[in-house]
Amino acid sequence: MSNIVFITGATSGFGRAAARRFAAAGWSLVLTGRRLERLQALQDELGGQVPVHVAALDVRDAEAVRQAVAALPEGFRQVRALINNAGLALAPQAAQQVELADWHTMIDTNVTGLVNVTHALLPTLIASGAGASIVNLGSVAGQWPYPGSHVYGATKAFVQQFSYNLRCDLLGTGVRVTDIAPGMAETEFTLVRTRGDQAASERLYSGTTPLTAEDIAEQIFYVASLPAHININRLEVMPTRQAWQPFAVDRD
Ligand SMILES: NC(=O)c1ccc[n+]([C@@H]2O[C@H](COP(=O)([O-])OP(=O)(O)OC[C@H]3O[C@@H](n4cnc5c(N)ncnc54)[C@H](OP(=O)(O)O)[C@@H]3O)[C@@H](O)[C@H]2O)c1
Repeated sequence: MSNIVFITGATSGFGRAAARRFAAAGWSLVLTGRRLERLQALQDELGGQVPVHVAALDVRDAEAVRQAVAALPEGFRQVRALINNAGLALAPQAAQQVELADWHTMIDTNVTGLVNVTHALLPTLIASGAGASIVNLGSVAGQWPYPGSHVYGATKAFVQQFSYNLRCDLLGTGVRVTDIAPGMAETEFTLVRTRGDQAASERLYSGTTPLTAEDIAEQIFYVASLPAHININRLEVMPTRQAWQPFAVDRD
């Protein structure tokens, strides 16, 4: 029987690349996201290779998440790895210029959505036991401040601490928890953050060498397929061509 991975945000970026990476290793896939047509396209692409179940799902809706997990068909129920990847940044401007609704959307998706899915799948993962994994997508923004990060970075700090705290409670169950914290990676992330500004997205990634979705998918697969006695607590990964800047100072 093959391993089963449950991926949130499989319609784009890291989640879609992770679906391909796990499929290449023979894992059965449960693929979720809001855009059903993209999920179906991925099912068409990978379904000949491995069993694929897709479910259109908004992670912010706790009841929908619970129902989607309860409705997993035979052959997809014994989830071995949960990839909590669905997330977004909005409003790259300064905090004092942001609409409150954008802050709420980030909290609802990156924090509430992530705990909704985790809560729904914890019993299954614990039943799976040694070698089961929860891989949470945090960010360098959860550790390092930068202008325009405000609530986004704070949600990713939550992801880091929630991951560590889960480890304490799951000690003895065999379930592993990892916070993967990527730096700049070229996906649809910036398109979403700028509300569809293709030129802004291209500007951010041009003239440098960002991480790719496949780079992060490889890290996700790596932590979930290590021998059962190894837990990577946090994996922070940046492009070689990205680093920190000196502190900013306000001068007269
Ligand atoms: N790219 C980066 O530079 C970077 C760096 C650090 C961390 N991250 C994190 O990595 C994760 C993946 O981002 P990405 O770069 O792959 O971005 P992306 O290409 O925009 O993909 C984001 C995914 O999240 C899903 N999603 C968003 N809101 C959702 C909701 N309410 N319910 C269900 N799914 C939802 C989207 O699917 P639908 O729209 O179809 O629902 C999409 O599949 C995010 O948590 C992000 O914060 C990204």
